[in-house]
Amino acid sequence: MSHDAKAVKHRKSVTRIVVGHQAMEGAGFLIHRPFPTHELLQIDPFLLLDEMGPISYAPGTAQGAPDHPHRGFETVTYLLAGEMEHRDSAGHVGTLRPGDLQWMTAGAGVVHSEMPSAAFQKTGGLMHGFQLWVNLAAKDKRAIPRYQELSASHVQIVENSVLGERVKVLAGEYRGVTAQVKTHQPILYLDVELKTDAEFVLEVQKDLTNFVYVYEGSLEAGGEGAQVLAHQLALFDTVQGELFIKAKTPSRFLVLAAAPLREPVARRGPFVMNTEQEIREAILDYQAGRFAKIPPKVDKN
Ligand code: CO
Repeated sequence: MSHDAKAVKHRKSVTRIVVGHQAMEGAGFLIHRPFPTHELLQIDPFLLLDEMGPISYAPGTAQGAPDHPHRGFETVTYLLAGEMEHRDSAGHVGTLRPGDLQWMTAGAGVVHSEMPSAAFQKTGGLMHGFQLWVNLAAKDKRAIPRYQELSASHVQIVENSVLGERVKVLAGEYRGVTAQVKTHQPILYLDVELKTDAEFVLEVQKDLTNFVYVYEGSLEAGGEGAQVLAHQLALFDTVQGELFIKAKTPSRFLVLAAAPLREPVARRGPFVMNTEQEIREAILDYQAGRFAKIPPKVDKN
């Protein structure tokens, strides 16, 4: 008599826990930033993760990021609360509301502004969301700028009330449900909500960068049950296996996975290229006005 031994799956280990440090950006924009830091410059291919807020603004006090350039990567903005207006030099205009996702490929270069909308500025209120920077491979760094906006109603949701799990699929595929957003390389970006004691299990192929960032609650993560709290990021090993999470309290967290680019990274502020020469070129191009200007605001009334 024989029976097939069920293959024992590797439960991934947490290799590092990073605390998102709190900082004020620009004119008073509260963020929690797990990376980049001096200790952790990137989580290839991800260059930056900012949790914007949560911060409660009194009427007339909300802050944003006025006109600034980007080249060589993508900025991904996902809003949980508040309202932001995006305008860029490629002519894209969009208002982001809670649950909306914006995936902007700066590629060869854009100038954009990311500001609280006029309506939000007037009323004030809670602002909370995320900005993720996704690096582009050398071959895509000069791509034509692209702007994708997915309103909350178009974000796919996988809900399992028995498991106590609700997952928004922002990019990539989860349990057969695929996000509408197009990416230059395969990227998995999930926003997960778990009830107390609920478990989240995700099979991840080998050699993929994979991490979770907790923004609410408290988790046990990985084979060793490492404790991960709000505003903390847990990086997992790159062995094929199961990324395992158990919620200790009602929790919300982001899950990111992608193949690393393994290319040299030269970065200065809003420019991320492969060489210092390309950075100098980006600065010169920007200073010479070779990044187009943002078209003037047209009053629709
Ligand atoms: Co920007």
